[in-house]
Amino acid sequence: MKPKTDQAHALITEENKHYAKSARINYFDLVVDHAHGAELVDVDGNKYIDLLASASAINVGHTHEKVVAAIAAQAEKLIHYTPAYFHHEPGQKLAKRLAQLAPGNSEKMVTFGNSGSDANDAIIKFARAYTGRSYVVSYMNSYHGSTYGSQTLSGVSLNMTRKIGPMLPNVVHVPFPDAYRHYSNESLHDISLRYFDEFKRPFETFLPADETAVVLIEPIQGDGGIVKAPDEYLHLVYDFCQEHGILFAVDEVNQGLGRTGKMWSIDNFDIEPDLMSVGKSIASGMPLSAVIGKKEIMESLDAPAHLFTTSGNPVCCAAALATLDVIEEEHLVEKSATDGEYAKQAFERMQAKYSFIGDVRMYGLNGGIEIVTDKESKVADEKAATKIIYRAFQKGLVIITLQGNILRFQPPLVITRPQLDEALQKLDEVFEELEQGTIELPSDLGNVGW
Ligand SMILES: Cc1ncc(COP(=O)(O)O)c(C=O)c1O
Repeated sequence: MKPKTDQAHALITEENKHYAKSARINYFDLVVDHAHGAELVDVDGNKYIDLLASASAINVGHTHEKVVAAIAAQAEKLIHYTPAYFHHEPGQKLAKRLAQLAPGNSEKMVTFGNSGSDANDAIIKFARAYTGRSYVVSYMNSYHGSTYGSQTLSGVSLNMTRKIGPMLPNVVHVPFPDAYRHYSNESLHDISLRYFDEFKRPFETFLPADETAVVLIEPIQGDGGIVKAPDEYLHLVYDFCQEHGILFAVDEVNQGLGRTGKMWSIDNFDIEPDLMSVGKSIASGMPLSAVIGKKEIMESLDAPAHLFTTSGNPVCCAAALATLDVIEEEHLVEKSATDGEYAKQAFERMQAKYSFIGDVRMYGLNGGIEIVTDKESKVADEKAATKIIYRAFQKGLVIITLQGNILRFQPPLVITRPQLDEALQKLDEVFEELEQGTIELPSDLGNVGW
């Protein structure tokens, strides 16, 4: 089957005359027209199962009735009044709810923004203000966003620093633990210790711990390839932070809100962070982000140190309140865990069948499937991964790659069991075709992926 693409091609050709290339990573010619749950329909009428959830921004599914109703009702009442000066009820309710939802027992406060990126900028500001220290530690392979601050924190693409430096000063990157490609005979314990040594090296050579404000980490890296830090490693880092008065902050923009089978990805580690950034799915894709932090830290800045005219927009806040209701009422955190385990087992069966599936990492409905030339060498096979997603798209699945060779499996958490089975079955068929060598990529596909 080949999807019809006449309308899409015409629209994209026209769009390309006006839309800057810095803002879109090339995958397929998909012009989304409408969507519901885990199903997308494009402008040519082709239907797809969405295995990307708009980059993990639609955890409760597209056009969820409750979210749509909340948006419509709020838009009728008040589209916006800036929280920089006055108050509105959806924002008040959401701040309280998020403060209560954050992990741990200490009192929390909340500030709103428009994107995950500005939330991570806020983490830098609050951490520097509270500690009176300037250095910030983040991780290689992390993605924290596209403002200058969050882009400086990131470490996943040369295009995020190329031509635009100097970046924000005093940001130091340390390596994120890789439990897949490691030395022979290393246990997870050995890996944790080795990477903790790597973490400490800057502090022993050029980075004064007493001038370091915060360590920011995605406990499970999203764009890095759905890679989970070993529990022991994260606790070593956390303890180091505690010992040296360094704040410990987590980025929950990609992995929060049920994605990992827990409400927050840091709940997989039983650590209470000092600060956390939230975005994407919080308002089902409406532009809203939040920083949730310990009260005393959040009180360290005075206005207008961190505010935006359109942040905490009431329509977005109403969407967020409805989204949180849906997560609770439909038990999506639990569903993510159960369906994630189901999908994991299916992928592991495929891994046993196909030599090119090197690693299956699934934490909730949230997977990184490593495509490699062979299981022993673990060499990333970007061309094979591109063939897989390209063919999957032709068969009605929207799935993309991370890091060139890792399949990104992040369907809306409301995906039905028949949809999940159909998606897994189709991926198995695509893997079989890859094995047979029958997938050809068109010559004009261009550079696909990150
Ligand atoms: C972990 C993480 N943090 C921050 C961001 C940035 O969020 P936004 O694109 O809404 O600015 C992203 C986006 O992909 C992300 O995955």
